[in-house]
Amino acid sequence: MLTVSEVTVDFVGLRAVDQVSFSVGHEQIVGLIGPNGAGKTTLFNVVSGMIRPTGGAVALEDEDIGHLGPADRSRRGIGRTFQIVKPFGNLTVRDNVVVAALTQGHSVPQARRVADEQLERLGLASGADTLARGLPLASRKRLELARALATDARLLLLDEMMGGLTPTEVNDALALVRELNEEGMTFLIIEHNMKAIMQLADRIVVLNQGAKLAEGSPQEIAHHPEVVAAYLGEPVEDASDSEDADGAA
Ligand SMILES: Nc1ncnc2c1ncn2[C@@H]1O[C@H](COP(=O)(O)OP(=O)(O)OP(=O)(O)O)[C@@H](O)[C@H]1O
Ligand SMILES: [Mg+2]
Repeated sequence: MLTVSEVTVDFVGLRAVDQVSFSVGHEQIVGLIGPNGAGKTTLFNVVSGMIRPTGGAVALEDEDIGHLGPADRSRRGIGRTFQIVKPFGNLTVRDNVVVAALTQGHSVPQARRVADEQLERLGLASGADTLARGLPLASRKRLELARALATDARLLLLDEMMGGLTPTEVNDALALVRELNEEGMTFLIIEHNMKAIMQLADRIVVLNQGAKLAEGSPQEIAHHPEVVAAYLGEPVEDASDSEDADGAA
């Protein structure tokens, strides 16, 4: 579904992403992990069209989308959430989602219906009329997801959705991703919570200092010597234990 080919991003004096290639198949869940500053969010910015790479290409369904901006990529089905959540604080929770739905060309009544559907499914319906700025963190993260879903995304890029959540909230988020995946959603997920991503992902791509260090199944990555040395610190044991999802990093 998504193919990232030899993508490089140079900022002044810094190569943030260095010739990274990987792909995400339909209905897969792929994890993108690595130390702080490894280039993960920068790569999301390239895939979602917010920055142009210095080199390399991004294709969606085998079609090069390098010339498309973020709005067009959103219309093609690429949705994302942000590491630092930024709802429109002065809008209600519902209107935040209505705005997202309107970007897909819905009429206002249609956009309201789409928004209410997503708010209901994400457990945000009861607070739909409150201002978004008053929401606690876990709800703000859900609102991010509701906004992405309201754009009819088929590929969701989640940037540290579990960060700052309690173990219970992490388990709820895991269940939600699994449910959406069973309904056909494809995911590329940046996550520092190792137990969470090891449980979710079909495959994991590891970035280190901009370059791809490893790619493999969660089990392979959890015990990969270079990944352990550069990032994990020690092998991640018992990735299937969902009770204690505190993360290793
Ligand atoms: N707009 C920018 N201009 C210059 N340097 C940038 C810019 N955005 C990111 N960087 C730098 O690029 C590198 C990669 O940053 P990026 O945010 O992609 O890392 P990350 O893997 O998402 O890290 P984290 O896990 O902390 O979120 C860092 O050294 C960062 O300081
Ligand atoms: Mg980041």
